[in-house]
Amino acid sequence: MIGWLDGDVAFITGGGSGIGRAVALRFLQEGAHGVVIFDRSIEGVATLADEAGVVPDRVLALTGDVRSTVDLEAAVAAALDRFGAIDVLVPNAGIWDFNRSIHRTTSAEMAAICDELFDINVKGCVLTVSAAWRALVDSGGCIVMTLSNAAFYPAGGGPAYTASKHAIRGLVTQLAYELAPKVRVNGVAIGGLRTDLRGPESIGMGERSIEQSFAKRTGEPNMWLPLHDASSDPADSTGPFVLLASRRNASVITGAIINADGGIGVRGFATAAGGDQL
Ligand SMILES: NC(=O)c1ccc[n+]([C@@H]2O[C@H](COP(=O)([O-])OP(=O)(O)OC[C@H]3O[C@@H](n4cnc5c(N)ncnc54)[C@H](O)[C@@H]3O)[C@@H](O)[C@H]2O)c1
Repeated sequence: MIGWLDGDVAFITGGGSGIGRAVALRFLQEGAHGVVIFDRSIEGVATLADEAGVVPDRVLALTGDVRSTVDLEAAVAAALDRFGAIDVLVPNAGIWDFNRSIHRTTSAEMAAICDELFDINVKGCVLTVSAAWRALVDSGGCIVMTLSNAAFYPAGGGPAYTASKHAIRGLVTQLAYELAPKVRVNGVAIGGLRTDLRGPESIGMGERSIEQSFAKRTGEPNMWLPLHDASSDPADSTGPFVLLASRRNASVITGAIINADGGIGVRGFATAAGGDQL
């Protein structure tokens, strides 16, 4: 059976956990020849090849920080050394701000949140592309960035997180322009997922995860979404990454973002209690 990514090599930042790990697993299942995981923590990657049913050599796990050009450039070199090419780049590493609104946050806290969150979510994404774009030009490859419902709508985070994901929309547009016709650049705006997503360490949010926030809400009514409840399994969100990464199926798509968030944008005025839905 031919997979959608047969023979391709993917480089995924933040692939040690959550959506990045789920995308790595799915890419291997779609025939990817190699997957490079770049993460500040790679413990979660040990069983990945086994889960995908591939030989361990097809997964290369590298420790590094997306804020470091040295780490990223060394990782790209190691990826090329091991696999000979990079076909798909997934800048995905990120942190969250636990919905810290402007009125619940002091100026000093907001400064700390913005510094760390923008460094990782925005600068980290730019630096990832900066380290890998030449390899993608050589392979005629593509980039698929991880965005969020917060890239389009309010309340997916506080001002810092929402602004950081809107910034990634700008990067999809600008880099799709700059790297055409050699490299396609697209994104997936996923919705709430039960993952280990953390907050800025500088204000003590590094030990909390979004999973704990969802767990705290167990028993409460879910925010109503047309397609599912407020959170879902990361594996459910991997399909759009496969589509946009696929040369065969997405060769005419660049500068696009797939909203894969359970339908936040089409809630209309209806609620779970009533409306005009099936
Ligand atoms: N979980 C959600 O509800 C949700 C919703 C929308 C978008 N997202 C986005 O999905 C992406 C992945 O998040 P996730 O939910 O899978 O969280 P996660 O914490 O499970 O995975 C993120 C990974 O990024 C890594 N990482 C964080 N900072 C890093 C750094 N400086 N350098 C290298 N690696 C770093 C972490 O170690 C972790 O393995 C993020 O960009 C996040 O903003 C998540």
